[in-house]
Amino acid sequence: MSIVVSLVGATGAVGAQFLKILEQRKFPMRKLRLYATKRSAGSKIRFRGEDLTVEDTDPAKAFLGADIVFVSATTAASADYCPAAARVGAVAIDDSSAFRLDPKVPLVVPEINANDLQWHKGIVSTPNCTTVPLAMVLHALRQASPIRRVVVDTYQAVSGTGSAAVRELTDQTRAALAGGKIEKSVYPHQIAFNLIPQVDTFREDGYTKEEWKMQEETRRILGLSGLLFSATCVRVPVYQAHSMAVHIDFERPVEPKQARVLLSEMPGVKLVDNPEKSLYPLPIQAADTDDVLVGRIRKDTSNPTGLVLWLSADNLRKGAALNAVQIAEELVRRNLLGKR
Ligand code: A2P
Repeated sequence: MSIVVSLVGATGAVGAQFLKILEQRKFPMRKLRLYATKRSAGSKIRFRGEDLTVEDTDPAKAFLGADIVFVSATTAASADYCPAAARVGAVAIDDSSAFRLDPKVPLVVPEINANDLQWHKGIVSTPNCTTVPLAMVLHALRQASPIRRVVVDTYQAVSGTGSAAVRELTDQTRAALAGGKIEKSVYPHQIAFNLIPQVDTFREDGYTKEEWKMQEETRRILGLSGLLFSATCVRVPVYQAHSMAVHIDFERPVEPKQARVLLSEMPGVKLVDNPEKSLYPLPIQAADTDDVLVGRIRKDTSNPTGLVLWLSADNLRKGAALNAVQIAEELVRRNLLGKR
């Protein structure tokens, strides 16, 4: 238990989940050091019965002596901090998009491609919060038949944007119910009592960066560079847990019954599929839990080789902090930490 961990972004929405998960899973570390920006320096966070002090992230100091550095701040911060952490012999586990498509950096969902950790060079990337649950479901189902094409529509919670967006949803909801003025700062439109079909900025092809990231990351994790893919990502007024309607086209027909068996055998996936009793995945059930919930599994009536399903998964846990902690657990188990 000599492991030292630094957590950058400790005061954020994902940071709070990191602290919970490290405590719940009894991650084998000797010391945890917490970092954020100057704004939060000096604030205290309780962890395993102790008050830890948050420090400003000075990359020259924050990573010295650390074995693992979890980075969950901004993409620009990650681009700076992760190489700095790797240089001093730590392994940076990064929750931003900075390195996800870098061929020198493994992009890992442990249930799918933990073996890719073998060739890390000091940085490991954890995928986008929408990619993780989708890739897990596709990985389970490709055991039945190769997958040709995926069409997915997402329903993404505001916590994916960060704690300021969580506050914005609360404030706007209160203001709307009181008949007051709706203030906007995080999103370009009101999110309370609304849906916004824009997650991240637009590309020239009309897709958003989020939609494109989901496509590229899914292809990379599954090793399916030619997978046909189209996503529409939508922000919804839900606090925690993303949901998705997924249309999958296989090379051969796959029966819903067979899909249920494969999904129920996949680690980290839980079937919630009894529509007659109104049992199907709900974001409110997925929030604060570890599993990807999958249900409403049925034939695609528009395609003889197609299946349709619905899923919900906690974007802050399996979509971010939990996946990162599982990566760290695998690095420890496989003796793959850096030589600091
Ligand atoms: P702070 O709270 O001091 O702003 P969220 O996504 O919920 O807004 O959280 C983002 C997290 O990342 C916060 O802990 C925030 O710290 C931290 N953060 C943002 N930018 C940086 C940076 N450049 N260096 C270190 N931490 C950062």
